[in-house]
Amino acid sequence: MSSDEQKKRAGEAAAQRVEAGMVVGLGTGSTAAWFVRALADRGLSGLRCVPTSEATADLARELGLPLSTLEDTPRIDLTVDGADEVGPGLALIKGGGAALLREKLVWEASARCIVIADAAKVVDRLGRFRLPIEVVAFGHRTTANRIADVLADHGFGQGAALRTAERGIVRTDGGNVIYDAPSGVIENPAQLAADLKSLTGVVEHGLFLDLADEAIIGLDSGVEHLNP
Ligand code: 5RP
Repeated sequence: MSSDEQKKRAGEAAAQRVEAGMVVGLGTGSTAAWFVRALADRGLSGLRCVPTSEATADLARELGLPLSTLEDTPRIDLTVDGADEVGPGLALIKGGGAALLREKLVWEASARCIVIADAAKVVDRLGRFRLPIEVVAFGHRTTANRIADVLADHGFGQGAALRTAERGIVRTDGGNVIYDAPSGVIENPAQLAADLKSLTGVVEHGLFLDLADEAIIGLDSGVEHLNP
């Protein structure tokens, strides 16, 4: 079974958790997209869906899901979203899809958060995936120097790399840029999170700690449920 089929399985299982009338946070990425499709297939009445990116908003709109915004529906019943890594205690790395800021805003407004992923995302220690850090575009190279100092304090031999794609520098939906820290074991995720957040110019980082209430992991044989 491919990782995409495992993602689909996790997304479909999570869609079963949604009840009619709920306000639902919609994550971003390929796994979250499976959830969005499965949710639309259920045809539940009275849903209001808050997307975490323009890409997810476009997909949900196409599928006929009723959309809302965090401004109009500041309290969310359930958010379902993917992750780049699922570590012990359901500590996560997110932001591979550059939507980490909106994702974290929606997660923090949610009564319950379910992370969905394929089996390869589950790790013993965070740090195999490069940690995304969202930075204000103004003076971002200066901020990157300060990020490098923080990373050095946490045992990283290199600073973070500006994320680019075919069209040039990647911009988030909010117009910020992304720096990716090198991969390497994150010994103290809470301290690294606090140190990054203390830098002027850092908008958010992809460490999602103490936010997930449950993980649904797609396997070849079904799904596995993990709790913090
Ligand atoms: C987007 C994210 C995604 O949830 C994460 O990158 C996982 O993506 P995928 O489901 O495509 O593997 O954090 O910012």
